[in-house]
Amino acid sequence: MKKFIPTLTAGLLLCSNAMAAPSAPITTTPTVIPQPVKMEFAEQQAGFSLREGIKVHYQVSRSELGSAAIRALMAAGITQVLPEENEGELSVRLVPGHGAEWYTFLVTTEGICICVSDPGALHLAAQTLAQSVVKDAEGHPAIPCMYVVDEPMLPYRGLMLDPCRHPLSVEQTKKMLRIMARYKLNRLHWHLTDDQGWRIEIKKYPKLTEVGGRRDETPLLTNHEQGDGTPTPLFYYTQDEIRDVVAFANSLGIVVIPEIEIPGHASACIAAYPELGNTDIEGYAPRVATTWGVLPYTMAPKEETFRFIEGVMEEVLPLFPKAPFVHIGGDEAPRDQWQQSPYAQEYMKKHGITNPGTIQHHFTHRLAEMLAPHGRRIIGWDEIMMDGSVPPTAVVMAWRSWVKPDAALTAANRGHDVILSPDSHFYFNFAQGKLPADPEYTPHGWNEAQQDWRHVYSYNPLPEHYNEAQRKHIIGLQANCWSESIQHGRKLEYQVVPRICALAEVAWRPAHLRDADEFLQRIYNEYPWFREMDINFRHEDGTPQEKVADKD
Ligand code: ACM
Repeated sequence: MKKFIPTLTAGLLLCSNAMAAPSAPITTTPTVIPQPVKMEFAEQQAGFSLREGIKVHYQVSRSELGSAAIRALMAAGITQVLPEENEGELSVRLVPGHGAEWYTFLVTTEGICICVSDPGALHLAAQTLAQSVVKDAEGHPAIPCMYVVDEPMLPYRGLMLDPCRHPLSVEQTKKMLRIMARYKLNRLHWHLTDDQGWRIEIKKYPKLTEVGGRRDETPLLTNHEQGDGTPTPLFYYTQDEIRDVVAFANSLGIVVIPEIEIPGHASACIAAYPELGNTDIEGYAPRVATTWGVLPYTMAPKEETFRFIEGVMEEVLPLFPKAPFVHIGGDEAPRDQWQQSPYAQEYMKKHGITNPGTIQHHFTHRLAEMLAPHGRRIIGWDEIMMDGSVPPTAVVMAWRSWVKPDAALTAANRGHDVILSPDSHFYFNFAQGKLPADPEYTPHGWNEAQQDWRHVYSYNPLPEHYNEAQRKHIIGLQANCWSESIQHGRKLEYQVVPRICALAEVAWRPAHLRDADEFLQRIYNEYPWFREMDINFRHEDGTPQEKVADKD
């Protein structure tokens, strides 16, 4: 680790109102995930003691920026912040002219000075500070004298949770948000609707949850071809619960992006309101799906369907006031029912289209137009680009890593912003390894994947063959936690931690600056925090921190 050299810039940060709170000497050098761009420590010296907390002068604590900093520090786990003091050990400044997530801070024995360009970055500074808390020679909490300048490489750093296949409680969701925040992930993609369940309360359409919020049975984990014969309890998030999760995420600097799957993965929705589907096909009998995979039920391209979607969005948008995007799904939408439906065939004739895939484009365009006046852009899985053009404002989430040419490049070449979530690297529902201690958490074919944290860490989101224009369109990364084989939060934790650490650093730091062996040491340094948080993390040999049921 570098020696601490207060540079000219650091000197400019020095606190006013500073009080001395020197710790006993500090012999431990903290490590941070993801690694900041620049981080210097004063080693083997006194640091800033947290023994009596961080005293915040009342003028600072009453300022908007100061109170935001206090909230961010406390949300990050530095709970010993004492606002409304006559003494000042915290100084916060706005320094315009940097990116929205740029931050810098200086810690001396006298205090902590944080500079940001945008208040949102206070969360990032707070997390770095929280990871830098160590024990001094007397065993008291302290932060070494240090200087950090930092900024992420990619602005969208996400995790997707799927409460449709198996429920995830509000508390478990909040725990995942705490984990995300520690590693500076800033987007929760909440997959709220799918064939096997509709999980968001929509007051105008109560049957979405009354009917779509439960199913008759669930495939066995050990044999996906066989159902368990047990009806699921009703599960959905009320609008109050959604608001609660969104507010909690915001308090950690995370924006929640809802996903409403359109026009496929819609069995639960169509089971609730059968008139939205292709009612005129033979054997039409929609029900909430009790099997996994790609299912045939798609929405019919009727005005009634578009009005329904509008009604849903009218309730969804206010629940996610900070989300710049709404994810509209768009993956795995079979065209078969549109081919069979006389109504859909007529619709195609009327619109002069010969490829049923174009019907999906009509949905995509309508949604983009519906949401644009509300200041929201759509995100869609990469299939939204199949069979024709989509609005250039649409963000493409590239997941099909087997597709040639590369889905991300195709999207970037068409002028779309791209979020990379390749199933070759970032599918956290896939198995991590086949070591003797690895539980059989992901039986059936998915057990072959072996995407351990090293595999995640080996990913390069901006490979050299991408040109400048293409690179500009890569706005971020995301890991997906599909939940067919993840029945509860403990398993989810095992699937996510520590892979999430690797994901965070891949998004933060260029590939040529990363070293997996060095990174492993930093993961080890997180073990105490994993334990403090009661996380069922995966140890290096595959052992789960806690043995939980891994089969049916
Ligand atoms: C997906 O995995 N179907 C996006």
